[in-house]
Amino acid sequence: MTLFPEIFHSYMNESIMKKAVEKNIIEVNIYNIRDFSTNKHKKVDDYPFGGGAGMVMTPQPIYDTYKYIIETHNIKNPRVVYLTPKGKVHNQSIAQNFSQLDDVIFLCGHYEGIDQRIIDLIVTDEISIGDYVLTGGELPALILIDSISRLIPGVLGQNESFEEESFKDNLLEYPHYTRPREFMNLEVPSVLLSGNHKNIDKWRYKESIKITKERRPDLYKKACK
Ligand code: ADE
Repeated sequence: MTLFPEIFHSYMNESIMKKAVEKNIIEVNIYNIRDFSTNKHKKVDDYPFGGGAGMVMTPQPIYDTYKYIIETHNIKNPRVVYLTPKGKVHNQSIAQNFSQLDDVIFLCGHYEGIDQRIIDLIVTDEISIGDYVLTGGELPALILIDSISRLIPGVLGQNESFEEESFKDNLLEYPHYTRPREFMNLEVPSVLLSGNHKNIDKWRYKESIKITKERRPDLYKKACK
């Protein structure tokens, strides 16, 4: 549910997301909240009660969009994610949990926000993508859609597997190298050329530990548990 459907059409029409849709592994339906406004000028916002800066999205168009979605797609226990800096900060384990669900509805706010009654009535999850403020919920929703979709079996090819990547076991990923063996006087670590897979695994694990300890002591603590 968005006021800017084009942002989604554009992102979903490229690369891995496009293939996932073509392979019928995921389906993304985009609904323009403005289409559901009963106002003769298709208005979707109004001044805040109590005064103050900015506009607030009115409840009617959002509620009617929601009703239409759950009826059209026959969704029984809808999970409705509202993207907001006030929400729980997104992470890999949240993405994993959502990747198990059949349906997820994302609600993108704009202006100063949405009428609180919409949150009280239909929102089940409030999620933030980090401690900074954006102009709208579209980029955060796409970040969720992307991070969730890539965990669904079949979305990534064998060459793009998520078996070994950052945040697996709370570790950051080891460094990668490809051809050429030497670039600007910098050589590829020799263990990677050795063909000894036990040593390669050991080296990668050590590098993962090292970089996690340096950059993310918070994750490192969890990894040691
Ligand atoms: N909308 C505006 N800023 C946001 C953020 N950081 N996370 C999620 N939704 C937002």
